Amino acid sequence: MKQYNVGIVGATGMVGQRFATILQDHPWFNVVAVAASARNKGKTYAEACEGRWKMAAPMPEKMKNMIMLDADADAEELASQVDFIFCAVDMKKDEIRALEERYAKLECPVCSNNSANRFTPDVPMIIPEINPQHAEVIHAQRKRLGTKRGFIAVKSNCSIQSYVPALTALMEFEPTEVAVCTYQAISGAGKTFESWPEMLDNVIPYIGGEEEKSEKEPMKVWGRVAGDHIENAVSPKITAQCLRVPVSDGHMAAVFVKFAKKPTREQMLERWKGFSGRAQELNLPSAPKHFLTYFEEDNRPQTRLDRDLEGGMGVSIGRLREDSIYDYKFVSLSHNTLRGAAGGAVLMAELLCAEGYID
Ligand SMILES: NC(=O)c1ccc[n+]([C@@H]2O[C@H](COP(=O)([O-])OP(=O)(O)OC[C@H]3O[C@@H](n4cnc5c(N)ncnc54)[C@H](OP(=O)(O)O)[C@@H]3O)[C@@H](O)[C@H]2O)c1
Repeated sequence: MKQYNVGIVGATGMVGQRFATILQDHPWFNVVAVAASARNKGKTYAEACEGRWKMAAPMPEKMKNMIMLDADADAEELASQVDFIFCAVDMKKDEIRALEERYAKLECPVCSNNSANRFTPDVPMIIPEINPQHAEVIHAQRKRLGTKRGFIAVKSNCSIQSYVPALTALMEFEPTEVAVCTYQAISGAGKTFESWPEMLDNVIPYIGGEEEKSEKEPMKVWGRVAGDHIENAVSPKITAQCLRVPVSDGHMAAVFVKFAKKPTREQMLERWKGFSGRAQELNLPSAPKHFLTYFEEDNRPQTRLDRDLEGGMGVSIGRLREDSIYDYKFVSLSHNTLRGAAGGAVLMAELLCAEGYID
């Protein structure tokens, strides 16, 4: 397989550090450039991350002495060194849109973790097991941007990564209404218990913008390519409530669902067991062997025990039972900074390389 030189924009952040650690032994992708804000320009990566390295794994040795670029001022230099970039920055949405478009117009594909372009109609929001065909809209996006190579592709919000895969496997039964309550880790806010001690012994019933993302983003993922844009799905209706809970990593969701064609419990378990997609077909390096795993034990999945399933790229499901108001209820769990952020973006990039969108 071809090797790709990649850059990480936002390399000093929580998601950027995840990219650094998961890419260190990647068979296709080789990190050659790192960028963040102007505050860190000219520092080594080790200096820029001093006192704020949040990963359990150490910083990759070969990245320690890389010289940080300014993501904005040095965009041309960075784009000329790499085949594509991963982007995860904490900036205003309009600034992120401008930054990502700038890289795309420099003919540098952007695999983004940011939410700014998720609802740009010709930007695909890809979960490789679910909607790999949405990559087709990249042709229309390139036409709009006037590029040959450059484009933007995004991954969806971390909150939807557990319940959307579980529901996707059940689409033939036509889910009509979904109520979901998420229990989200503090790393989703780029925080640890050291940097956010108020989260110890605490639950905060508000995560800005999260409920809207949790209700709307699945509709784009379940949508279809309609010429030059993605047409969003219109059902099922989703209502979401998102809570921040005192766990380091791992977003859990409690899901209630009504179907037009109510399946049996056995049918649901069978669909979850057998569910796989293009990522598995292509045997992509970051693809979990089993995307969805159902636990029969009443007290599983548990965040601490099960978030690292399949290297943090699998989704665990449990507690499936009939409900007195909806048809069924269950619980699902995924790792928010692996499957839900950096790992999901790496898997998307692998798909885009394997399908010829990044050459
Ligand atoms: N954490 C998660 O689980 C998660 C999940 C999905 C999506 N996301 C998204 O990923 C993005 C990053 O999140 P995070 O948790 O990694 O944030 P974070 O830890 O706060 O890191 C933010 C990064 O953005 C950089 N940055 C800030 N201002 C910049 C500027 N003006 N120009 C260039 N770079 C700038 C920072 O660089 P400096 O060090 O130089 O300031 C840092 O590298 C956000 O859009 C977030 O919504 C996060």
